Amino acid sequence: MPSTNAAIKRCVATIKEARPNFTPCLGLILGSGLGAVAQQIDQPTIIDYRELDGFYVSSLEGHSKQMHLGLLHGVPVVCLEGRTHLYEGGHAIDSLKIMIRTLKMLGCNMLLTTNAVGSLRTEYGPGNLMVIEDHINFTFQNPLMGPNDHEFGDKFVSLDNAYDRDLRTKLLALARKLDIPLFSGVYVATLGPTFESHAEIRAFKMLGGDAVGMSTVPETILARHCDLKVASICAITNLGAGLGTEILSHAGTLRGAKLAMNHVIRLIFAFVEELGESRYC
Ligand code: HPA
Repeated sequence: MPSTNAAIKRCVATIKEARPNFTPCLGLILGSGLGAVAQQIDQPTIIDYRELDGFYVSSLEGHSKQMHLGLLHGVPVVCLEGRTHLYEGGHAIDSLKIMIRTLKMLGCNMLLTTNAVGSLRTEYGPGNLMVIEDHINFTFQNPLMGPNDHEFGDKFVSLDNAYDRDLRTKLLALARKLDIPLFSGVYVATLGPTFESHAEIRAFKMLGGDAVGMSTVPETILARHCDLKVASICAITNLGAGLGTEILSHAGTLRGAKLAMNHVIRLIFAFVEELGESRYC
């Protein structure tokens, strides 16, 4: 893979050519089975990842591979339908860097990610949502390993308030108003692609985790490095392995995501509507 910075510059040029004079303030990343959010974008310009140098094309079912530029409630957004996971190996970290830093270079100041998770709380089953208040990085990988790129940020990044407190408060208030089942909790990130063992799930519960998933944390770290504000909404698609009777599968994740989909769309819509009226955008 060529240097990530050269790839970022090429991605930005491709995007600006496809959609001139467009400056998004919010980047959205959609998780497994949550792609329908992108269909809500007005006046869309859609770019296939194959045209974006270094954007990794995942073969995973439930993940399309497109960037959508357009307006959500009048707010200029760039939406990534399809993400890169660490478990894909190879150039996954470079691809993650290129994606997040391209959003930054386009003008975004905020990143809202969505993802599918297994719940560690039996009282919150499929269809519920969780806003991430903090994470535990059990991938034991960090996308900032290696030489630091000072153009984007400092080498040593604080993860204090990594999931922005004001944005979390806003999401929780909106969910209450809209009667959307949203709780606040700690996301445990695993490398995957296996689901967890029953013993791992018991350990994560003891460590203070509320949900477990295979994404999001690398994006959060990269976003905080380049000073994007971050918020993240999890769609609970299943109970963690061994907490219910289900044998976990990707097909089950997609089925569970459908249960949460409407809640996710309504919450993102309401959130973006408020952003349009705030100092953030
Ligand atoms: N574990 C990890 N990732 C997931 C799960 C899970 O139970 N459900 C959806 N994504």
